[in-house]
Amino acid sequence: MNVMKITLSRSPAAETETECLAVVVLDRTPTDRSAKDKDKDKDKSQMSVETSEAAVREAASELIAGGEVSGKIFETTLLHRPAGLKAKRLLLVGGGKAENFNTTVLRKLAGTAARFLKPKGIASFAFAAPETGIDAVGAAKGIVEGAFVGDFDPDIYKSDRKDQTLEALIVVAQGNQDQLQRAIEEARIIGESQNFTRELVNEPSNRMTPTVLAERARKMAEEVGLKYEIYGSDKIKELKMGAFWGVAQGSDEPPALVVLRYEPSNAPASPVLGLVGKGITFDTGGISIKPADGMEKMKYDMAGGAAMMGAMRAIALLKPALKVIAVICATENMPSGKAQKPGDIQIAMSGKSIEIINTDAEGRLVLADGLHYARKLGCTHLVDAATLTGAVVVALGYVNAGVFSNDERFYERFGRALDNSGEKFWRLPLDDEYKESIRSNIADIMNSGGRWGGAVTAAMFLREFAEDTPWIHLDIAGTAWMEDNKPWIAKGPSGIAVRSLVELAKDFRS
Ligand code: BES
Ligand code: MN
Ligand code: ZN
Repeated sequence: MNVMKITLSRSPAAETETECLAVVVLDRTPTDRSAKDKDKDKDKSQMSVETSEAAVREAASELIAGGEVSGKIFETTLLHRPAGLKAKRLLLVGGGKAENFNTTVLRKLAGTAARFLKPKGIASFAFAAPETGIDAVGAAKGIVEGAFVGDFDPDIYKSDRKDQTLEALIVVAQGNQDQLQRAIEEARIIGESQNFTRELVNEPSNRMTPTVLAERARKMAEEVGLKYEIYGSDKIKELKMGAFWGVAQGSDEPPALVVLRYEPSNAPASPVLGLVGKGITFDTGGISIKPADGMEKMKYDMAGGAAMMGAMRAIALLKPALKVIAVICATENMPSGKAQKPGDIQIAMSGKSIEIINTDAEGRLVLADGLHYARKLGCTHLVDAATLTGAVVVALGYVNAGVFSNDERFYERFGRALDNSGEKFWRLPLDDEYKESIRSNIADIMNSGGRWGGAVTAAMFLREFAEDTPWIHLDIAGTAWMEDNKPWIAKGPSGIAVRSLVELAKDFRS
């Protein structure tokens, strides 16, 4: 993993010695001008360099006066040897309209700066916290998190990979030193953990088998001081995890059940937060096999499990006074002579019987046993994360992930975590009427509700196994993998859910 050295500077940005000083430019052109003013100000856009330092604004003034800087979001303008600054270069990063500016935008701007500078061989830079709009501590956190997001590149198997990584980041911010330092340290832990998840998700299935995923969990747990248990087929059968085993039985690769425990001595006995992750290291669909087109993407079907691992890593390092247990159900979903078939009946660990309608609806099967097991381990609140359905991509595209919950209080807390993480989730319903679609003739429930409302019926299936425990389900099928390069993040694994889960755990009380 890349080690980025991050330092705080409370000196003026103009005095910062760096390869490049990045500052935010916002568009402050008034949008609701009266007709009279409109005439007068025609064409006069007002770009503002977001710093109180005259020297920095002065250095950028010619570029801005010349109209070369539009302030458009993600626009980058690089100036060499800026007059009056100690920095070798000045990077103006467009942040869009001032009224839309917030920490989420700032995070992306830091990522944009990283992704703009890195390919140019500029491996260290300073980013000045904007002094307007958001508080310095929140800004420092956003800058560091965003830089980590921007620093990740997926091209690790290119033989001519230049292995360019950011070496150093200076956060220039004015405010309380202790608070700023703490924010930066916290953001570094979260950023590294999100990238840890992305590294796992990026690996192809021949190099990220359930066994390898479990080994990575073990290694990480030992590094950060988490307790762990790693089980194979025997334990899965002994626990009577018939739904999980039903998926695993078709593969030559052995499955793994990973339990990670964060149980600090200062934590109350309750609540216990349970994080349950779908860890399908490759999803062929099984006997209900998927079409060849795009099947290669099913290597990222373990993104939910990897998100839980990343979140546990960050939690272990941030040390909230809360018990957290992660359960990751890792297996391939393969067709073979041993594979389960449509029509088969599996008995889940909870005792519920499941009619397998479609072997490609395997995520909900492994999670059914994962959720039940987490309850048995004493979890009082459950969150699962899974690349569960194509239907959630139909519903929400690649922008929002789906979120479902059976508990308003718990959901409200998650909403606050989203405010802090900046990740986008959209709530979808769980009305009882949807249960009709997964009623089976022969068993308690069936594993596919058909085409309509597919993300909802998958969630309804999971709800049967969360039972009365407050539960949140995150369907990240459309958001765990970026389909295109963006200015602030590379195409490939996104690490979605890690930051939100960490924010949830950070101030969790029952
Ligand atoms: N892993 C897939 C869902 C998925 C789709 C993830 C696209 C990422 C991108 C899941 O196991 C699956 O195959 N779901 C089926 C369920 C259906 C058979 C009821 C689906 O969504 O088509
Ligand atoms: Mn599937
Ligand atoms: Zn799947």
